[in-house]
Amino acid sequence: MRKKIVAGNWKMNLDYTQAKNLLQDLIQNKDKFNADAEIVICPSAPYLGVFAELVAAHDWIKLGSQNAYFIDSGAFTGEISPVQLKSLNIKYCLVGHSERRDNFNEDYNLLAKKVKALINHDITPIFCCGEQLQVRSSNVYREFVMKQLEDSLFSLPAPDVAKCVIAYEPIWAIGTGQTASSEQAQEIHGLIRARLEANFGEKIANSVPILYGGSCKPDNAKELFSQKDIDGGLIGGASLVGADFCDISNSF
Ligand code: 13P
Repeated sequence: MRKKIVAGNWKMNLDYTQAKNLLQDLIQNKDKFNADAEIVICPSAPYLGVFAELVAAHDWIKLGSQNAYFIDSGAFTGEISPVQLKSLNIKYCLVGHSERRDNFNEDYNLLAKKVKALINHDITPIFCCGEQLQVRSSNVYREFVMKQLEDSLFSLPAPDVAKCVIAYEPIWAIGTGQTASSEQAQEIHGLIRARLEANFGEKIANSVPILYGGSCKPDNAKELFSQKDIDGGLIGGASLVGADFCDISNSF
């Protein structure tokens, strides 16, 4: 059975006190979270060290980084190395989020290197893909998303792909309140799963979790998560509200 995952991407939000309070709120409400789902939070990088200590005794919460570079150490001012993340017991890392592709010009080649480096250090990449509104409107969105995957992720060998999580996040749904309908999301998730099977076989296709992201909230998560190829969510805004994030975890 595929892992169910609910991951919170806090993006560049919350000052240190607010972030720590939110984490403590989640920890205190452990019993309300879905014990069958993997709960992941991706706070801002400066908080990861302290957060790693705070969750050390609560390993039902896994930590993820929002970013990593592909080199272990050296003169790369401002970057985060997978070795550094590993030393803090960080389990997941986002790769290819649309905000990084757009604002920081991260291209397919860089993303492939990041995925590989993370896997080499036993950190699970959450590889994000998704199309802009104009691509959706022009009706070539299926090919567009498949190409994002083919270019960066599917160039890797099968054992590496088997260690990844994929997140489909249509850009027009991110932070807009306009979520994809469950049919729209399932269509792409189903295509991704089919492409995984065509490239890497049934076993890998049936084991890689595919998350949906883009205005996923407590009131639409159940419908989205009931789709056969949707294995959870990558949650932005709603993950900043402890009770909403918790509700979403119970939406399977
Ligand atoms: P929202 O849930 O705020 O739309 O953000 C989704 C997202 O980008 C998660 O990575």
